[in-house]
Amino acid sequence: MKTEEVDFLIIGSGVAGLRAAIELAPYGGVLVVTKDKPNESSTEYAQGGIAAVMSDEDTVGIHLEDTLKAGDGLCREEAVKVLVEEGSERIKELISWGAEFDREGMKLSLTLEAAHSRRRILHARGDSTGKELERVLLKKVLSLKSVRKYPFAITMDLIIKDSECHGAYVVKDGEVIALLAKATILTTGGAGQLFSRTTNPMVATGDGMSIAFRAGALLEDMEFVQFHPTSLYSPTAPQFLLSESMRGEGAVLRNINGERFMERYHPMAELAPRDIVSRAIISEMVRTDSRHVYLDLRHMDKDFVKKRFPAIYATCLRYDVDITSDLIPVSPAAHYIMGGVKTDLDGKTSIKGLYAAGEVACTGVHGANRLASNSLLEGFVYGARAGSAARNTVISPSKSACYDPASGSIPDSEEIRRSLRKIMWEKVGIIRCANSLDEARRALRVHNHILNEDYCRRHELELKNMLTLARIIIEAADMRKGSVGAHYRSDFKDRGPNWNEHIAIDKGIIFF
Ligand code: SIN
Repeated sequence: MKTEEVDFLIIGSGVAGLRAAIELAPYGGVLVVTKDKPNESSTEYAQGGIAAVMSDEDTVGIHLEDTLKAGDGLCREEAVKVLVEEGSERIKELISWGAEFDREGMKLSLTLEAAHSRRRILHARGDSTGKELERVLLKKVLSLKSVRKYPFAITMDLIIKDSECHGAYVVKDGEVIALLAKATILTTGGAGQLFSRTTNPMVATGDGMSIAFRAGALLEDMEFVQFHPTSLYSPTAPQFLLSESMRGEGAVLRNINGERFMERYHPMAELAPRDIVSRAIISEMVRTDSRHVYLDLRHMDKDFVKKRFPAIYATCLRYDVDITSDLIPVSPAAHYIMGGVKTDLDGKTSIKGLYAAGEVACTGVHGANRLASNSLLEGFVYGARAGSAARNTVISPSKSACYDPASGSIPDSEEIRRSLRKIMWEKVGIIRCANSLDEARRALRVHNHILNEDYCRRHELELKNMLTLARIIIEAADMRKGSVGAHYRSDFKDRGPNWNEHIAIDKGIIFF
């Protein structure tokens, strides 16, 4: 088997991965492995922006409080403190690397999103913040001779010896390669593709969480999946995020009868926490027997809307919706997973030599519900911390590795993938109960044989990862017999006993 030795292996090329690579570059060779193009990650698609304390009207204490409140009692306060305290430093660094955030005159233009009590969301190119950040990071990485990108290589599994991580097995151009490393950092992002409605790109199949689980790592808070209230709903258009900052700037929600409804559900109306807005939309859809509601910007200044949301304006127009003059059909969609591979404040997982940062990780900053625009910030703050901690890892490089995966295919894999996504959306989505979770478990159990096979093609590996993670989410959702944050059980509407405990899962707890 082909073997390559590197000092530091980073799996995933979004914000967290690239920021970790920059931190590690002075200390050795860094390899950034990604299964697609280097810029194909959730970062690239982020619209709304990045939250940080950058104005005199705001303080880290208020940002901390807003984050804890959104997290509904389940944030790890010390992790949130690190996030809000180190946030502005990371933003200033980005500006020094050339990031061009939108400004009003000389001042940074700050917008508002749900559950923020101050304007603190920086944005770039109107609604293409992620693209700008990825541009700046990729440019910075390109200037670092010790960082090498390794695109179109999918990770099969981690190399574990004596309970330590020694790198990963990847497949590139059909060949299995053992990448041996002193430290490995997972930054593979989220898992929105597990649900048939999602704002996430095709690459978000939960790979990092699944391979970490197979390696024996501890996962935490996996029942907490955030559903974004507004993604474009049209049978002829792709699912497309309509940023919460549209509501922050004054857009309102209406049911199909044209009535505003959010005031009936929460005093903060359209800017209530996301889980409340998503459930309110579902209630209105059921009440009016409709598959969507509307987002309405018609009362807003047309020139402002076009300038503030240029990418959303252009995309919707392509599908015949003029956001300045039409009602926009929207429905909720899976957006972000608060849970992930459990880490400490330095990105260390439960496996020596393995780190995680960004959406794949669970630092505890998001608790049961993430505050909007805190995720890019988490990627920067915790990507840098994981990089900094990883450089001191003392795993002696392994000299050998052996893996012999079958090159088998999965018959009907497209159909299994489609039905998994439908089951997860319908039975494990915005509203869950014991019956729906059991139905999902039973429907997916028939594919258990896939979990025990080794594959070496992207399509099969992704499906195996999706099935693994789906089962983990179902079990965590079943274990939490109460409703907290984004996890809502119609059979346990109260918080339930021990609601403030975290649910941690590893392969010793779940047997498939
Ligand atoms: C949005 O623009 O609505 C998404 C921002 C986020 O999820 O943090």
